[in-house]
Amino acid sequence: PYVLALHGPNLNMLGMREPHLYGADTLADINGRLAAQAQAAGMGFDWLQSNAEHVLIDRIHAAYTDGAAFIIINPAAFTHTSVALRDALAAVKIPFIEVHLSNVHAREAFRQHSYFSDLAVGVICGLGAKGYEYALSHALNHLHARA
Ligand code: DQA
Repeated sequence: PYVLALHGPNLNMLGMREPHLYGADTLADINGRLAAQAQAAGMGFDWLQSNAEHVLIDRIHAAYTDGAAFIIINPAAFTHTSVALRDALAAVKIPFIEVHLSNVHAREAFRQHSYFSDLAVGVICGLGAKGYEYALSHALNHLHARA
């Protein structure tokens, strides 16, 4: 079993992208810390970033059969637009946590609706890159409790 982190559009630009909102860490920094955290707990880890909706959907479909036990997803702008990505997560029934770097509820009105939150185990937003680590901690506890 392993934990899968999925990162949506424009998150490849972390570090340079609106750092006042999204912080100074790069996506490589974030994934590197998650991989180390998972490894320390004896859990596998994989990640994917894509700017393309269908690539994220195809990865979720693959996760259905390839041993993914938990998903941590920042759907980025697709949070507010993508019924298709929501339906993919509903189809595979892999538990997931929705993470946002920024506090989407303190921002524009269009960021305050998510197509994912009602299906998620939980939602973390506004805690910056730490939010991913908190999500992974929860996933690891949950998976070890189940094992
Ligand atoms: C985001 C918030 C979204 O509204 C935005 O489109 C992003 C990043 C966040 O992590 O704060 O790209 O998901």
